[in-house]
Amino acid sequence: MNTTRKLAQAALCAFALSALPALPALAAETAWITVGDGAWRLLAPQAEGARVLSTRDVAVNVPVQRGSPALTQAHERVHAVQLDADWLPLLSHEVHEKLRRCGGFVRHESAAEALAVLHRLQGTATPALAPSYTLDDAAQVTPMLPLLQESRILSTIQTLSDFQNRLYNSAHGVAASDWLFQHWKQLSAGRSWMRVSQVAHAGWPQKSVKLRIAGNGNAAETVVLGAHLDSISGNASAEVRAPGADDDASGVAALTEIIRVMADSSYRPRRSIEFIAYAAEEVGLRGSQQIAKQYQRQAKPVVGVLQLDMTAFQGDLTDLWIFTDFTNAAQNQFVAELAASYLPQLSVGYDRCGYACSDHASWTGRGFAASFPFESSDATYNRAIHTDRDTTATFGNQALHALKFTQLGLAYAVELGSD
Ligand code: BES
Ligand code: ZN
Repeated sequence: MNTTRKLAQAALCAFALSALPALPALAAETAWITVGDGAWRLLAPQAEGARVLSTRDVAVNVPVQRGSPALTQAHERVHAVQLDADWLPLLSHEVHEKLRRCGGFVRHESAAEALAVLHRLQGTATPALAPSYTLDDAAQVTPMLPLLQESRILSTIQTLSDFQNRLYNSAHGVAASDWLFQHWKQLSAGRSWMRVSQVAHAGWPQKSVKLRIAGNGNAAETVVLGAHLDSISGNASAEVRAPGADDDASGVAALTEIIRVMADSSYRPRRSIEFIAYAAEEVGLRGSQQIAKQYQRQAKPVVGVLQLDMTAFQGDLTDLWIFTDFTNAAQNQFVAELAASYLPQLSVGYDRCGYACSDHASWTGRGFAASFPFESSDATYNRAIHTDRDTTATFGNQALHALKFTQLGLAYAVELGSD
């Protein structure tokens, strides 16, 4: 592996915690990112040769105060920047040290793509499709909910965590993708309307895994449920231990359990439903960026996207946290109504990530309506992620919290999939 690639990989939070990355020594790969103004101001004075290609004020929905369901619109200045890829670890480090959070930027494959995403982000007030969010499928949702089993979710999390790691560019990461592909095939065997495939990506070997349930009335319109397959930890060398139990085996396991119950129930939606386990989320949302870009190019009518990234660790008393930034406000309200109606015992809070922190942002960036229900508030998230301690032990070897998100995901898929 070349040095640039290694450094580019290190653009993640755990790395930022451990060491200050060296300054760029080699003439390296050019990278294009979109980055919030706060993060950019930290790097700009140091990043020699970096060039801002464009700046936009992007509207984001934020809680009026932390935890409040009431939203207000704020504006965030976002830049598309061209720079040497070797600066990215320093950017992560600065964001972590000075802004006390992770991430802070999204990496794109070209200048044109960074500019297109920036342009799109600005226009997300009106998504391409505005479906009806009426709740009218209790007859289908209610009998399926009790079929979802906590023990099966836990067992999938365990199997995925048992891979040495699921790095996007390691043999282990490839093996995890192959295992999930086979597992989803087994679960859907004999159901001709369910098709499983692996999506190859330009630039790294790990494939995303996709299961499509063909709609039987309005098949072109598609509902997407996603989670990320890859994991990361420490210096991200190919043999590093990165169990990624919460981040994000817990999201993939939720999708897997929904698939199992839908297959066993011979459930057929009117719209199509796709479950996607994305490759390469941890290195700048790269798998989902490629997929969302392709769907936009093909003008695929994606009516809604739900991202499940970290579902197993309950950080505080509130059960479900709906993240309001880089997501769609109307669909978020629908998600809250689903919870109130199908999971009335659960409490719901609102918070924000502060940056494009998971794959929902790739869809938002392409003009699709996406939501991101999260396991905790941003302040109380599982601090074991991106380390070798992100195991099932961290959440008590149980998947009761993950089960809530699995139930929510099933209700979302069926209610939105039925129209
Ligand atoms: N699951 C995390 C995102 C997350 C972490 C959300 C903590 C809320 C609290 C995700 O896998 C991740 O690590 N994202 C990166 C950013 C991405 C663009 C590489 C991050 O947060 O550093
Ligand atoms: Zn992560």
